[in-house]
Amino acid sequence: MTTLTLTNLAKRYSRSVWGVRSMSLDVKDKEFVVFLGPSGCGKTTCMRMIAGLETVTRGRIILKGQDITDLPPKDRGVSMVFQNYAIWPHMNVYDNIAFALRLKNVDRKELNQRVKKVAQMVRIEPLLKRFPGQMSGGQQQRVALARALAVEPRLFLMDEPLSNLDAKLRVSMRTELKTIHQESGATSIFVTHDQSEAMSMADRIVIMKDGEIVQTGTPEEVYFQSANTFVAGFIGTPPANFFPVEWKNGKLEHPRFQLSPPPALHQAIENHGKNRLILGVRPESIQVVREEEALFIAPVLVVEPQGSHQIVAVQVEDEVVKLIMPPACGVQPGELLPLTFDSTRLHLFDEESQLRIPGY
Ligand SMILES: Nc1ncnc2c1ncn2[C@@H]1O[C@H](COP(=O)(O)OP(=O)(O)OP(=O)(O)O)[C@@H](O)[C@H]1O
Ligand SMILES: [Mg+2]
Repeated sequence: MTTLTLTNLAKRYSRSVWGVRSMSLDVKDKEFVVFLGPSGCGKTTCMRMIAGLETVTRGRIILKGQDITDLPPKDRGVSMVFQNYAIWPHMNVYDNIAFALRLKNVDRKELNQRVKKVAQMVRIEPLLKRFPGQMSGGQQQRVALARALAVEPRLFLMDEPLSNLDAKLRVSMRTELKTIHQESGATSIFVTHDQSEAMSMADRIVIMKDGEIVQTGTPEEVYFQSANTFVAGFIGTPPANFFPVEWKNGKLEHPRFQLSPPPALHQAIENHGKNRLILGVRPESIQVVREEEALFIAPVLVVEPQGSHQIVAVQVEDEVVKLIMPPACGVQPGELLPLTFDSTRLHLFDEESQLRIPGY
C-alpha cells in the first residue's frame, strides 16, 4: 500500500532559485526510503514541504489518501528529526519524549507506556531521568529519535540525523536506526549526502541532482544499473571509472584498448545506434591478469591500504583509474599492471545525453 505520493512537487525560492524543480515519488507502507544527493540538490527543501514547514510552489502531497499539501504541520501526522536535533536542555529525557504527547492530551497511563516503549526501542531506558547535558552525542540523538517516534507518526522524516556524530558512532547508529525501523514499522524518509550510508540503510534510494530525481531504485539497482554517469560516478567507494570510447566494427575503441562486448551488450549498442559512448567500469570489475590476457597495461600511481582490501590507482591516458585488490598483494608505485575488465559488469552511457543505453 502507498503511504506517500508526491506529484510534480516544486519549490521556487526566488525568480532564479529553485529548491526543488519537480519531484514525483510513491513511498510504500513501512518502506525506508533514502534521499541521496550532493549539497544543494533540494533534499531538505523536499522534506520541509512534506512536513509543512515550507509552502509548495507547485504539485501535491498525498499522505494515506489525504491531500495534505495545504494542511498546517501539526495536522499532518508527520514527525521530523533534524540535523541539529535540538532536544530541550532544561527537561530530562522522559519529559523531552513526553512533551508532544502532553500537548496532544494523551492520558497519563498511555503516555507512560508510550514513553517506555520508544525509550526501549532506542535503548535509552536507563537514562530517562538524565538531562541532555549529562549524555553523549549518540545518546542525545537517540532521545531526538524517541521523541519523534513517540507520537506514532504516519510518516517519519529524518534530515541527516547522524551528521553531528563521529565516524564510528555514525556507523553503529546506522545499524540501530535500521533495527528501530524494523521494530517500529514507521514509514520513513531519511536524508543523507553520504552514499555508503544510503546504500547500507535504504530499502530504496532516491538519487537527486539540481532539484530533480535522477534515479529511484534499490541499492543493488542504482549500483549495478546506474541510470546515468552522475549516478555511476556518485555511488560506490570508490565510484565507477569512465573511459570515452567509440563503437567501430563491432568493437569499443579507446586509445589504449579495443574491447569486444558480450552479445547482449553488442546488440544493445547496435540498437542504440550511436557511436560515441562512455564506458563505465566499477573498481572491483577491473582485474589484474597475465600479460598475454591483458586488455592494456598501466603504471601504478598510488596504493591505498584499507585493511580488508586496497585501492590501487593507475594511469590510463590522462585519467586516474582506480581498482580494488586484495590486501598485501605487494603492488608498488611505478609497477606496470596488466589489466582487463569483467565483461559481464560493464556500464555503457551515451556520450551526449550521459544516459545509460537501454537493453542489456
Ligand atoms: N530559505 C531559502 N531561501 C532561498 N534559497 C534557499 C532556501 N533554502 C534553500 N535554498 C536553496 O535551495 C537549494 C536546495 O537547498 P536544500 O537546503 O534543499 O539542499 P540540500 O540538498 O538539503 O543540501 P545539503 O546537503 O547541503 O543540506 C539550494 O540551492 C539552496 O541554496
Ligand atoms: Mg539539507
